[in-house]
Amino acid sequence: MKIILGPASTQLGQKIAELLNAEAVPVAFKTFPDGESYVRLEGEVQDEEAVIVQTTSPPQDPKLIQLALLADAAKRNGAKKVWAVVPYLAYARQDKVFLQGEALSIETIANMLEVAGVDRLTTVNVHQEKILARFPFPANTVSAIPLLAEHFMRKGLEKSFVLAPDKGALHLVEQAEKVLRGGCGYLDKQRDRYTGQIHMEKKTLDVKDKTVIVFDDIISTGSTIVAAAKILRELEAVKIYVACVHPLLIGDAEKRIIDAGVEEIVGTDSVSSRVSKASLAPLIAKELVK
Ligand code: R5P
Repeated sequence: MKIILGPASTQLGQKIAELLNAEAVPVAFKTFPDGESYVRLEGEVQDEEAVIVQTTSPPQDPKLIQLALLADAAKRNGAKKVWAVVPYLAYARQDKVFLQGEALSIETIANMLEVAGVDRLTTVNVHQEKILARFPFPANTVSAIPLLAEHFMRKGLEKSFVLAPDKGALHLVEQAEKVLRGGCGYLDKQRDRYTGQIHMEKKTLDVKDKTVIVFDDIISTGSTIVAAAKILRELEAVKIYVACVHPLLIGDAEKRIIDAGVEEIVGTDSVSSRVSKASLAPLIAKELVK
């Protein structure tokens, strides 16, 4: 097995290669003056299982194209199998047609990757696991929630209450609760499909005088977490932390969240950011040799 260091995840790929004692294949890359992407493998993959580690966080489209080009390059250079490890899978939130006339974006992306040469895909905490069954090649998701919860254990936050900002994230906090063992719950969130604005109602939760950790898969604009933090303050939670797998943190999301009274945001290196304090490398390395 050789690990191709996708330009979007060079450090993570290197860590995975080190953990597996596998050869890392560097990638030369550039963007042409007209905006097109260029990649070149700087190592051999002939007769190898080639694992491309490449996240597709913003800017998603050039990173997806790099991934597709790398899959093509690996196959052209004799790789017997191409396994794409895509920690943040772009377009996964458009996993159904919500409004008439829309594309089913994630299926389009999966089909594009298949044509490029991808034989298998692993991602991390994909938004809706069931969409992976519709991919044209085997695809699975692994969960980084236990490792995030363990990060908080090491900070001495055992027995914290863990909260999902919407019912869809309840399965995440149930995983976290198994580690932290301080109870869990969820808020009710609605999102306007046209404006993207969210609405969250205060509800009864046993968080008064407690430390609460809000777990979510993605932080994008931060609006979800800001709304959850406001409710938690009204409910007199004593301290609020945030854990997320994919810290996209668009614009001033981080500042808005801290200004909303959150002590700290802890994310993974699915997306490189200032809050990427927990590495996915051990989780992914384990998956690659399972
Ligand atoms: C949506 O259901 C996701 O789980 C996240 O809650 C959402 O993507 C976060 O987006 P934002 O940070 O823009 O509120």
